Amino acid sequence: MEKRTVLTKLLIALVIVALAVVFAGGIIGGKDMMYHLVNRGDLGPLTRDDITYLSVEAPDPTSGDGTVNASDWQELYPYIVATMGDNDKNAYVVDYLEQDPYLVNIYEGYGFAKDYGSARGHAYTLTDVAKTQRPHALANCLTCKTPNFAKLVNDLGVSVYTMPFDEVMAMMEEDISCYTCHGNNAGNGGEIVITHSYVAKALGENMSAIDPSTLSCGQCHIEYYFTPADKETMMPYSSVATMSPEAILAYYDEMVLPDGTVGFYDWIQESTGARMLKAQHPEMETFLAGKHAALLNCADCHMPMDQAEDGTIYHSHLLVSPLENEMLLSNCARCHGDTDMVTFVHRLQDRVTARETEVGNKLSDFKNALAEAVQNGTLEEESLDAARKLYREAQWFFDFCYVENSEGAHNSELSMRCLDVSEERITAGMSLLQP
Ligand code: HEC
Ligand code: HEC
Ligand code: HEC
Ligand code: HEC
Repeated sequence: MEKRTVLTKLLIALVIVALAVVFAGGIIGGKDMMYHLVNRGDLGPLTRDDITYLSVEAPDPTSGDGTVNASDWQELYPYIVATMGDNDKNAYVVDYLEQDPYLVNIYEGYGFAKDYGSARGHAYTLTDVAKTQRPHALANCLTCKTPNFAKLVNDLGVSVYTMPFDEVMAMMEEDISCYTCHGNNAGNGGEIVITHSYVAKALGENMSAIDPSTLSCGQCHIEYYFTPADKETMMPYSSVATMSPEAILAYYDEMVLPDGTVGFYDWIQESTGARMLKAQHPEMETFLAGKHAALLNCADCHMPMDQAEDGTIYHSHLLVSPLENEMLLSNCARCHGDTDMVTFVHRLQDRVTARETEVGNKLSDFKNALAEAVQNGTLEEESLDAARKLYREAQWFFDFCYVENSEGAHNSELSMRCLDVSEERITAGMSLLQP
């Protein structure tokens, strides 16, 4: 009995001491925070737990179409609005056709053979879509450029995709903005809203298998096509499992077109007669098949957490390369230890790029040989068709790697596999063309 009382007393004393330590720690912690405010380097990687999520009434929309725009949020989220505006700092563009001249040959007959520069910041989407020399008669080209287009589709339905480009362009107000990723309730509680309707159409319930922050980028950083019947923007798969380049190729190969023929194509190349596919920036597909898929989302590597002078902790909405940001690099260290990540990633990218140049040039040679065979009429139509199919596939796999914007960083294994498969098809095609 007595022993118990002593034990209880001891326990109570311990609890009091523990509470005192926690309480004092809180005060010291508070001081610490002040110190860290001026010396962020010591803070270590910030986490979402450091964010104070607001739950506020959304402001009234001032846009003509009822989207709450960036300036409407200015008062509530000054740092997020400011950093999103900073996306105009990413203005650097590489001319891919100049850098890799073989592309002009491979893309012959398609817009990309005339004008193909690298992407730049989100603040340039409307400027760039207006001035590209690739022709766009229809409004569907605006799908990935502005929240006002997504809102129009949400209000009026898919008929919007076939409206004349110029008419719809004149109604667009903002580059990619708050509504795109948060709907009208921008980020209150950190909530992501997928506003591009085709994502739900394509993925259905399988949407929930993808982290919302990743899917917010995956509204646009994906492979897509325009449906032949109503030129609606669409994703060529229905789940993460069907996002591989092999599965997407099968999806295109099996598609029945409005004229009854089978096999989707973006264009028919005149010199080869091949029905060609053009891949576009499959960042989400490539990332989701990679080693980080279950560990991180796009924001973890491209939206650094930051702390403002007044102490507010938030995700910077300036989308950056993780190799150029200390906060993001310090996050890599959680798992990669003291590996020099810049060198590590550049080595991978160099390997992928060298292989791309090698396979790209072979693909260009294959195309020339095929065009020559078509012109000479030396081969049976059946063999020519088999070679055309191999060329279509070789270009598809090459492109899937080439047009992915991380240059191998997201998933070097997949990039290398695409190039290997492409080369395999080239070799098979070349041997068909040899008499
Ligand atoms: C391209 C997509 C995108 C756009 C555009 C965008 N956001 Fe975000 N936003 C995100 C993502 C992703 C997160 C991080 C969610 C996570 O993973 O925690 C986020 C987080 C937030 C949060 C939660 C707090 C925080 O810092 O994480 C708020 C608030 C927010 N955004 C407001 C806005 C506002 C206001 C705008 C327009 C000025 C905007 N967002 C534009 C994608 C976007
Ligand atoms: C509404 C479509 C859309 C959404 C959503 C979107 N992007 Fe983009 N993104 C684009 C377009 C289009 C460009 C190219 C703009 C240009 O060159 O004019 C781009 C460019 C970029 C660039 C610059 C590329 C470069 O080579 O400099 C980065 C980085 C980027 N996006 C990351 C993201 C991330 C991360 C997300 C999610 C948080 C995201 N984007 C969401 C459409 C989108
Ligand atoms: C593990 C970190 C990581 C994750 C997660 C990640 N990326 Fe990246 N991303 C990178 C690296 C590294 C590069 C290459 C940067 C460089 O070359 O400077 C890159 C490059 C890019 C680029 C080219 C622009 C640039 O700055 O070079 C885009 C666009 C992009 N990523 C979008 C995405 C999207 C969309 C997602 C999610 C589907 C995503 N990333 C997920 C690490 C990541
Ligand atoms: C949550 C843990 C984690 C974080 C954080 C992380 N990584 Fe990784 N990363 C991994 C794992 C696990 C692998 C796979 C290692 C292996 O297979 O040997 C990997 C592999 C890689 C690869 C090779 C991928 C390939 O396909 O060849 C690159 C590049 C990479 N990480 C870059 C980064 C960068 C850059 C950052 C920070 C911006 C980062 N990682 C943050 C866990 C992480």
